[in-house]
Amino acid sequence: MSEFNHKDLLSMEDLSVRDIDLILNTAGSLREISLREIKKVPTLRGKSVVHFFYEPSTRTRTSFEMAAKRLSADTMSLSATGSSIVKGETLVDTARNLQAMNPDLIVLRHPASGAPQLLAREVEACVINAGDGIHEHPTQALLDLYTIREKKGGIEGLDVAIIGDIAHSRVARSNIIGLRKMGARVTVSGPPTMIPFEAESLGVRVECDPAEAVRDKDVVMILRIQLERQSRVIFPSLREYATHFGLNRERLKRAKPDAIIMHPGPMNRGVEIASEVADGPYSVILEQVANGVAVRMALLYLLIGGSKRGDMD
Ligand code: CP
Repeated sequence: MSEFNHKDLLSMEDLSVRDIDLILNTAGSLREISLREIKKVPTLRGKSVVHFFYEPSTRTRTSFEMAAKRLSADTMSLSATGSSIVKGETLVDTARNLQAMNPDLIVLRHPASGAPQLLAREVEACVINAGDGIHEHPTQALLDLYTIREKKGGIEGLDVAIIGDIAHSRVARSNIIGLRKMGARVTVSGPPTMIPFEAESLGVRVECDPAEAVRDKDVVMILRIQLERQSRVIFPSLREYATHFGLNRERLKRAKPDAIIMHPGPMNRGVEIASEVADGPYSVILEQVANGVAVRMALLYLLIGGSKRGDMD
């Protein structure tokens, strides 16, 4: 029986430290499959995975598709514009119709916070939240934790700064939960209008000056400015954001000399991050993307392939 006793992956809140360790360790053992000449094992042969993306995605969608294919699952892709949602079908009706075809797992990205929870209640298939509104993006947090652990040798005791639009960021929320569970200290920074009122109740320190927020940090995570999620203007212009909060070499001077720079993508170069930082020697941004495939392979394996360890070779 799998040690991972969950039907779905909806939120970092649902995972224990042991679950997170299991996912990261499993990802570590699956990582080398992507480096082989033949990048495929039969572990999920006969299983079917539906990727249902109501919102645009480059990294998460291709990463899940690649992960499922490398484990030999059959994959189907559905987007809002190419499905009957445009004809008025509700998420619940769509879910019931998908369930009628008996998939093993559904990966859902949706603009409404809570949509994956609703789907998980409606279907027998496992559900993975690939980002819901401004709520959570748990697989992004897991691949970030994997990358931090790989680069720093552990997570407990690290000092991490998360800079940007914290209030609208599902990546920030999932990372704060995951990092705190794993024993890291977290400081958040951004314009006051982008810091949620309840920030300190999440167990983080708030520091409005980004140059001060990065002081002595081991990890600096920079977030995208999400203009599409802001219901009102909460910052005068992108130029002003770049001037006051954009992370450039000068503003990163107070971080530890070996601090790693992370960004979940997609990046707004010259706004929240300068190219000299994004492409600099301490950037691990593309390693985050590579690790995303291994972490998603681990989740697929733990949720729907747990009894087939022998098929990994
Ligand atoms: N990090 C992330 O979720 O990127 P995509 O929107 O491209 O999937």
